[in-house]
Amino acid sequence: MHKIDFELIEMTMDVMKYAIDRISHTKQKIGKPLKAEALKELVGETITEKGIGGEQAFQLWKEHLAKASVPVDHPRNLAFVPAAPTRSAVMFDLVTSVSSIHGAYWMEGAGGIFCENEAMKWVVSLTGLPKGAFGVFTSGGTAANLSAIVTAREHWREDDTYKREKGLIITSIGAHSSIKAMAKVADVDILLVNSEEKLTGTNLKDTIENLTFHQRKRLFAVVATGGTTNAGIIDDLDGIAEVCEKEKLWFHVDAAYGGGALVADSVRHLFNGIERADSITIDPHKWMFSPYDCGAVIYKQPEFAKNAHSQQGSYLDIFKDEGAHGFNPTDYQIQLTRRVRGLPLWFSLATHGTNRYKEAVERGIELAQIAGRIIKDNPNVELVREPSLSCVLYRRIGWNPEDYTNWTYDNHDKGFALVTPTKWKNGDHFETVSRFCFINPDTTEEDIKMILDTMA
Ligand SMILES: Cc1ncc(COP(=O)(O)O)c(C=O)c1O
Repeated sequence: MHKIDFELIEMTMDVMKYAIDRISHTKQKIGKPLKAEALKELVGETITEKGIGGEQAFQLWKEHLAKASVPVDHPRNLAFVPAAPTRSAVMFDLVTSVSSIHGAYWMEGAGGIFCENEAMKWVVSLTGLPKGAFGVFTSGGTAANLSAIVTAREHWREDDTYKREKGLIITSIGAHSSIKAMAKVADVDILLVNSEEKLTGTNLKDTIENLTFHQRKRLFAVVATGGTTNAGIIDDLDGIAEVCEKEKLWFHVDAAYGGGALVADSVRHLFNGIERADSITIDPHKWMFSPYDCGAVIYKQPEFAKNAHSQQGSYLDIFKDEGAHGFNPTDYQIQLTRRVRGLPLWFSLATHGTNRYKEAVERGIELAQIAGRIIKDNPNVELVREPSLSCVLYRRIGWNPEDYTNWTYDNHDKGFALVTPTKWKNGDHFETVSRFCFINPDTTEEDIKMILDTMA
């Protein structure tokens, strides 16, 4: 398996050809999922004692399995938060893989970690956090949010008064599902302000005033969102920072999706106050055009993260030795062994320059505005709210939830588009509506019109 022979060289050429095709494609299809049994029927037994051979396995991948997956960068994939990695970033993902670098400690990964840190300096500069702030790349927003929550909780518990208390955090129902899930992992309670609209400093102040004495004692952090997943809403970060500073609470901003928009002059002012955060999540694999997976967690005072996350073990002592000194990404988040997943972002930034990022993000925001105008002109549909960042919520007049589901499947089955429904709080009930999220600058006005036409 580890020898170099003719077969290996041939296989390498095949894989390179596939990679070149994929990187330079312009018109790939939206893949369609099949049931596992159907896929098994198509490909048969692939894991056998003797192996089926690389050629056969690769053929099955190309013919059946790749086609059962949705390429996230399709211009008519507007579901969830899609992605659109730059071609240079995808290319360097290959380089990252073949380089086999352990990205936990400087001693092993210095070259790769250096590049990651150069990219990170730019990401941190977008936030306006004070000197000394820094971050690390994680497997995604979920891992970044967990790393930040654990850092906040450990910092809080440094005070003996709270050692035996179960922590409590406040966020709103607009926060991403990972905040609730990660609070569970960290075993902290979560109090949700019952509004999906912008969480304000006043909402937060009122919520804190209504806490019981014991709840207030247990409260250690607030999570604001810098671009909600559902609607692209940016909480009142300045107002929330004000309250957090007064109440001595850790202020985390989850900008996993919206963080890319920090580079966009047209909306940067909406994030004012983010520079007062104690920690921030930003996902380069969302709106910074990195391939999966690449999230980031940034801390105003990284030493708090180091206290919380740095792992100890006799086998790790060498990394703390003078000769091995350097920046160790593992110390600032939950993972030990890690891929240098910031490398594709570094290469793409170095290749294109940051201005191109600004243009590409601005295009996503512009596409949301264009979609808003097209929807207003189309008698079959109407906006649920004005577009925010690159999210557009709209309803097809007269449709019930089942209609939206059937429409989604129909377009997906045809390999035409992936646009999924969501729910929006309308008074006391949740209404099923349709949602666009634009990331890919190659999506066109025509794409939007064609998708809406299928709702006629
Ligand atoms: C605001 C927000 N936070 C966190 C996440 C979770 O990020 P990931 O899927 O990279 O773990 C998402 C994903 O869409 C998100 O939009």
